[in-house]
Amino acid sequence: VSVEAATELNKSLPVKNEASPKKPMQGFNAKLAFAIAASALGSSFQHGYNTGVLNNPQPIIEGWVHGVMENRTGSAPEQTSVTMVFSLMVSVFCIGGMIGGAVTGFVADRFGRKGGLLLNNVLVLLAVVSECISKSVGSYELIILGRFFIGINSGLNAGLAPMYLAEIAPMNLRGAVGTVYQLVITISILVAQILGLESLLGSENLWPTLLAMTIVPAIFQVVTLPLCPESPKYLLVTKGQDMEAQRALSWLRGTLAVNEEMDGMRAEAEALKLVPKVTVREMITNSALRIPLIIALMVMLAQQLSGINAVMFFSSKIFQMAGLQPPSSTYATLGMGAINVLMTLVSMVLVEKAGRKTLLLIGFGGMTVDTFLLFIGLLYASTSTIASVACVIFVLVYVIMFAIGPGSIPWFLVGEIFNQAARPTATSMAVCINWTANFLVGLAFLPLQEWLGPYVFVVFVILQVLFLIFIYKKVPETKNKSLEEISAMFRQQSYQ
Ligand code: GLC
Repeated sequence: VSVEAATELNKSLPVKNEASPKKPMQGFNAKLAFAIAASALGSSFQHGYNTGVLNNPQPIIEGWVHGVMENRTGSAPEQTSVTMVFSLMVSVFCIGGMIGGAVTGFVADRFGRKGGLLLNNVLVLLAVVSECISKSVGSYELIILGRFFIGINSGLNAGLAPMYLAEIAPMNLRGAVGTVYQLVITISILVAQILGLESLLGSENLWPTLLAMTIVPAIFQVVTLPLCPESPKYLLVTKGQDMEAQRALSWLRGTLAVNEEMDGMRAEAEALKLVPKVTVREMITNSALRIPLIIALMVMLAQQLSGINAVMFFSSKIFQMAGLQPPSSTYATLGMGAINVLMTLVSMVLVEKAGRKTLLLIGFGGMTVDTFLLFIGLLYASTSTIASVACVIFVLVYVIMFAIGPGSIPWFLVGEIFNQAARPTATSMAVCINWTANFLVGLAFLPLQEWLGPYVFVVFVILQVLFLIFIYKKVPETKNKSLEEISAMFRQQSYQ
């Protein structure tokens, strides 16, 4: 269909576009759903699955590392060296994530959002090969290398997938579509927790298969994503390809009547023609960009420094502090994973109704009160059954509060508060900060917990209060505003 023909057709068709009053599901159709699934399932799965996958088989993999070390040196290694190797396996994933996050902007502009996502699957292949052969060749270094590769892959995904989702979604569904990224993370953490049980794949013989399962969503993506179009915004605004952009948008909207939406994007493309590519330096020195940048970095920090991954990685340990013994602590962990999924589904519906800011405030506010109660509960957990039951409930409520907004919103908010010229660089910085904070919490939680006992949670309460105040004062509501309106809002603020 040529642009002219489509334009003619548009005139005769009833205009159906994102700027008219919204019905809740307006703009949703089977092709859009397909593109969402192709991009999100294959990408956030890596992020979530590899976050959760080493949790259950920890003792078994540590046992294997012990054996490998003993074989090499001829004498039994110290437990601390084994633990160090295992910690490295866990944390090198986040280091990879920081690197992947940092190069997102470059990849997104150079290869496109869809192109970048597709290319990224090469890293999955490298990771799976090195993790799979590690056991047969007796090298734990290969697992560390594999986790590093899959970390880079996940960091890239965490930038590219939300960017693609934000750019293909109709305005009234941008939050709900953006939440899909987090929804798949929560589902895949749960899948990893279940498959990692010793009775399934978390056993002495099968753990390499458990690690290799991460190839399945990559295959799914390589088969499905090529059938979907590149982001129309990228095609038009970054590449200047009007006709291709219109074709992509028509595909995604399931209609040729995309004129008004195209006009909005054309206006953005025009406005940005004179703007050079935004660099990190520009981000920091230009006040119209600095305000949204600080907001983006702070919500990412808030998401991680609220302590969520202390709970995700070490829930069994926390449940044990509250008096549960295995296998009850393992079941409680699975229950927590399931609650995380369910509440993320709820937040998907709420985000277009209640708005981003409201859900962030409810989520972080709830987490603050709840973490404080958990701290009090833990002080009494060893002497009182009521207190220990209450602690388990507080951990579950904590996850509910996280999933209601703080889990999903930061991922797509970054895409919403920047225009096309600044979005890739901003995403790089925000995603990199997220993984850095994730790494720090993973590294610091256990030593802090040993040193401070339950008081470790006071650290999180203090951080949560600070972030809550920041969000209340600084984060704008972006629900139902076009991406162009949002950047205009920041431009205005910077002149005030
Ligand atoms: C968010 C966090 C991730 C965490 C997950 C838990 O995606 O970024 O680090 O593991 O939520 O649901």
